[in-house]
Amino acid sequence: MSLINQVYPVIWQNDSSGSLHGRVLLIDQTRLPNEFAFVEISRCDDMARAIKTMIVRGAPAIGVAAAYGMYLGAREIETTERDRFLTELETVAETLRVTRPTAVNLFWAIERMLKTARQTLGSVDYLKETLLQTAKQINADDLQTCRDIGEQGLSVLPKAPAKLRLLTHCNAGALATAGYGTALGVVRSAWRANRLERIYVDETRPRLQGAKLTAWECVQEAMPVTVITDSMAAHCMKRGMIDAVVVGADRIAANGDAANKIGTYSVALIAKAHNIPFFVAAPLSTIDFTIADGSQIPIEERDPEEVYQIGDTILCPPGVEYYNPAFDVTPASLISAIVTEYGAFTPAQIQSELYAKQIG
Ligand code: MRU
Repeated sequence: MSLINQVYPVIWQNDSSGSLHGRVLLIDQTRLPNEFAFVEISRCDDMARAIKTMIVRGAPAIGVAAAYGMYLGAREIETTERDRFLTELETVAETLRVTRPTAVNLFWAIERMLKTARQTLGSVDYLKETLLQTAKQINADDLQTCRDIGEQGLSVLPKAPAKLRLLTHCNAGALATAGYGTALGVVRSAWRANRLERIYVDETRPRLQGAKLTAWECVQEAMPVTVITDSMAAHCMKRGMIDAVVVGADRIAANGDAANKIGTYSVALIAKAHNIPFFVAAPLSTIDFTIADGSQIPIEERDPEEVYQIGDTILCPPGVEYYNPAFDVTPASLISAIVTEYGAFTPAQIQSELYAKQIG
């Protein structure tokens, strides 16, 4: 497989018969790292399935994918009557909403698309065109936001040593966003600024996003990368091998509690025990000011098969029960700073510094 310079997991492709007839290309993340392939999506139902089955995954990326899904669903609506169109668009929104419950970016993007439709005057055709433009804008904005997060993160990383050994969990990279990444965006910026000695990547059981996706992205950019199993992180910290931890988030409550991939909470606890700074990198759209604390964040539970089976191999004997929560919540008290496109804030500063920006 040749190296890929720029990774964009969600791409809009115009059709020769006009841009409104285009399609979405998704990097099939279930096939990486062994195969780099795209899946073509032309219908809202297929986009919903792609989100649910994690062909596209990662909080900002599923937000972008859902925005295009809203357009694809809008395109399928046949009526030319505005009120009827808006009612049917609600059904499209619901198809996408029920895919994955934890990442707030999904709901944020769907709401933004609905609001655009409601506020746009003109014919139904014009509304559809505006929805496509809005989805493209959400895509472009997220890419810029990630680059900004990368820059902001660079300024809060420890000043010493000159070259850092960072640890990340799951994949909060280009694949999980419109491109560049949030947590991995910070790592990428450190690498480009010659401040990265090595990135340690938790494999991230059960779906192995660290081993499969983050490691793949690091290889594309020639970053020095070491994959460890999740259970090795404490040992590495105790041995002085890690200078800071950077992870992404799927939803951050108003008090700074942050939901991210299952296992993140354990990493935060052991980082605290070893006095290692623990950073959460996420766009403003990941903060859910409507909920006070992390106990109210819905946690997705996925198929038990993800726990008892790797590939074709069944790991456990018959007769066992399984529990497969896909996310956990790291309490704000364990987070050194939340790095957003507007700068780095302590969890306590989130509400006072960022609320106005989000609603504005
Ligand atoms: O289940 P996934 O792979 O969608 O979970 C992804 C994560 O937990 C990421 O860390 C999070 O979405 C942030 S992505 C920038």
